Amino acid sequence: MTQDQNQKEPSKTLKLADDLKSDARFLPLAKNPKLIENLIALLFILGILCFAALGAAYWVNANTQVLGLTLAGGFACMGVSFVLWGRYLLPKGPFSEERHPIASNTQEFEAFKDSFIGRGKLAFGRRKFLVKLLGAISGVFGIVATFPLLRSLGPNPDASLFRTEWRKGSLVVTFEGRPVKVDDIDVGGFLTVFPEGHVGSFVSQTLLIRASTQPIVTRPGRETWAPAGYLAYSKVCTHAGCPISLYQQQFEQLLCPCHQSMFNILDGAEPVFGPAPRPLPQLPLYIDDQGYLRAQSDYNEPIGPGFWDF
Ligand code: FES
Repeated sequence: MTQDQNQKEPSKTLKLADDLKSDARFLPLAKNPKLIENLIALLFILGILCFAALGAAYWVNANTQVLGLTLAGGFACMGVSFVLWGRYLLPKGPFSEERHPIASNTQEFEAFKDSFIGRGKLAFGRRKFLVKLLGAISGVFGIVATFPLLRSLGPNPDASLFRTEWRKGSLVVTFEGRPVKVDDIDVGGFLTVFPEGHVGSFVSQTLLIRASTQPIVTRPGRETWAPAGYLAYSKVCTHAGCPISLYQQQFEQLLCPCHQSMFNILDGAEPVFGPAPRPLPQLPLYIDDQGYLRAQSDYNEPIGPGFWDF
């Protein structure tokens, strides 16, 4: 067979598609398919406008009613379009098939392939414009759906999650801003303290506990961190970030009221009970020439729940 003959003779698939056109089962249910096509096209265009309006409203931070209405409008247009398309434009059937042996031979496989492609051409071949609009509405919605990633994640926290306001030499002050002197707290007493100039800072809030009058070594390498029996631990629980507010002097333990995690203050605030997964970070202290408590540096590790571990 020459190349010319190939071009002149309609392919088997197209011939089958032509044959199927005369089969009443492959005709759409709509009496006036053009009208339904136009209606679907109109709904798709309305849906595109709704989704574009949703994107614009989201971008300018419009109120939630506007977001809800535009989102609902877009989906409603898409939904009604799909229903109309499926109900009135696709072949109305019914289609049934006799039960046959499960395994197909090569001829049956080829026949199925031709039939499948032929039906597809019949069902979708005339709807190119609607298919394009379907692609457009899906594309607009897909773009709008990425807006939360671009706008709602907030500013990059950079290194702020790894640092607090404590610095080398920061003066330890109370909630009222009063500097803490070495003789201010008796053994067994404790206070919530902050670095001077940052009273109220959530990440810097620290529990200052007087556990002894003598220096305490909570871990190897921390020989100078707790002068005159003063221990300082982050007040932010390492489980879910609750502020730790209870100190049990009898057991030398801190207790988080949220889920009852307990931390041994003489062992680097190691958790001894509850869901907290790691010790509270310890703040290294020193006593200056006037007897005021100061920080040697920031905490030895990030405070709060261990987000960087995951
Ligand atoms: S937040 Fe402290 S134990 Fe859960």
